[in-house]
Amino acid sequence: MCYGEGTFISKEELKTYLILILQVQLKHIYKQKVITQKNLKLFRARMKFENIKKLEKLGRILIVELRNDENKHEIGKYLLKKYKVDTVILRKKIVGTTRRPVVEILAGKKNTETIYKENGCLYKMDVSKVMFSLGNAFERKRMASISNPSEVVLDMFAGIGQFTIQIAKHSKPRKVIAVDINLDAFKYLKENIILNKLNNVLALNIDNRELPVKKFASRVIMGWLFNTYEFIPHAIRYLKNEGIIHYHTLIREKNEREEIERLYYVLSHYSKDFEIVYKRIVKSYAPRVNHWVFDIYIKV
Ligand SMILES: C[S@@+](CC[C@H](N)C(=O)[O-])C[C@H]1O[C@@H](n2cnc3c(N)ncnc32)[C@H](O)[C@@H]1O
Repeated sequence: MCYGEGTFISKEELKTYLILILQVQLKHIYKQKVITQKNLKLFRARMKFENIKKLEKLGRILIVELRNDENKHEIGKYLLKKYKVDTVILRKKIVGTTRRPVVEILAGKKNTETIYKENGCLYKMDVSKVMFSLGNAFERKRMASISNPSEVVLDMFAGIGQFTIQIAKHSKPRKVIAVDINLDAFKYLKENIILNKLNNVLALNIDNRELPVKKFASRVIMGWLFNTYEFIPHAIRYLKNEGIIHYHTLIREKNEREEIERLYYVLSHYSKDFEIVYKRIVKSYAPRVNHWVFDIYIKV
């Protein structure tokens, strides 16, 4: 399709453009205005943004999630320039127990490794191999001031050290045992421990249900969202006589009460003395589904 000064536009663009023409024509009648190249540019920018579901900038890499694949390369080039990054990456989905992203480079350098700085901590990662959610930033910051030098902390789903690095660096517990089953995450976890000059973290590449020790932690972080309650027996096994569990889970809106009842039911198998001492929505995860965290004090 050809319009005006030899500018090519798609069928979808044409539809919205016709509406724009109508609006502009109305304005033209009253204010003597005409369609300019600037109008067209603005209109195209709007079209691109309408397809964008999510944008996350991690260091020199911009990750984009789109509603559909239409114009993805054009959008990539546009974002590369707009956000002045080295690479724009399309995240299509996240799969499996290891939460591996499926990605495609849309524009810029063919590189998927980046370093992201947050709250004085450095996170090195390959965004094509591991997940990092900017939406959890507040929770990471909360972890940074929650512990103290008398504690041993267990991070059961450590990833690349999202919580481990901040808690170890800022709250300075005696030890953080950081466990992840994914070898790629483990590799970056170890790099991040070195990058942040930490000497109070022990990283383990193992299934968190198979730790050979018990009763060692006074704080357990369960940064996992899917059927987290199934891991409660293990968290309880690793807890000393009493402590705090940071329990993360997804809850559909209006199901909060049922979920809390289920949590109480599971916990009541292991203790008569427990209480949710803090709770909050960490982020919206999907339409009408939220990521929650519950801090549970428990005596075992
Ligand atoms: C998406 S990351 C979350 C990292 C961090 N906890 C956060 O919330 O930002 C979840 C991690 O849990 C790990 N994981 C899943 N099941 C596990 C298990 N049974 N034992 C150890 N790690 C596990 C995955 O490999 C993944 O790296």
